[in-house]
Amino acid sequence: MAVRAVLRMGDPLLLGTAAAVEKFDTPELHALLADMHDTMQALDGAGLAAPQIGIGLQVVIFGVGQNPRYPDAESVPYTTLINPALMALDEEIEEGWEGCLSVPGMRGLVPRYKRLRYRGFDQYGNAIDRTVGGFHSRVVQHECDHLLGILYPMRIRDMRNFGYTEVLFPGEVGGDE
Ligand code: NI
Repeated sequence: MAVRAVLRMGDPLLLGTAAAVEKFDTPELHALLADMHDTMQALDGAGLAAPQIGIGLQVVIFGVGQNPRYPDAESVPYTTLINPALMALDEEIEEGWEGCLSVPGMRGLVPRYKRLRYRGFDQYGNAIDRTVGGFHSRVVQHECDHLLGILYPMRIRDMRNFGYTEVLFPGEVGGDE
């Protein structure tokens, strides 16, 4: 287990399409998830996708407890999601501020589907099937975008709503995810 370096925007490894995991409950998969967990925890992130540490597999983790950085955000259960499939439940879009460990020091206002069903597997191959909304829906869409080579700035509709966290939100506790 180790904290791994997180690739930053500009690295071509962040722009690839991740491959599906074919074998579950393997030592390699558990080791990858341990490193992702350690890395996300060390950086106090809300989520992390395997491509962000240079691994082109469809593996993401996310979870938000009581985070002083998101005083208004509902908590999201700690989740390992592999080979995800996302389905918007309707067309309703919500704009919200996002950051990313691969785009440190910045925030942008990003449109996301408000209500989402997502399916996939945990590291043991157990099926996951959830219907979520709000911040949970946003986090899943952000992390799964990484598996398609999409970083959140690519989804910002009005680039005037993209900038440095400390300028946009002076006095707020800093953070990059
Ligand atoms: Ni990200």
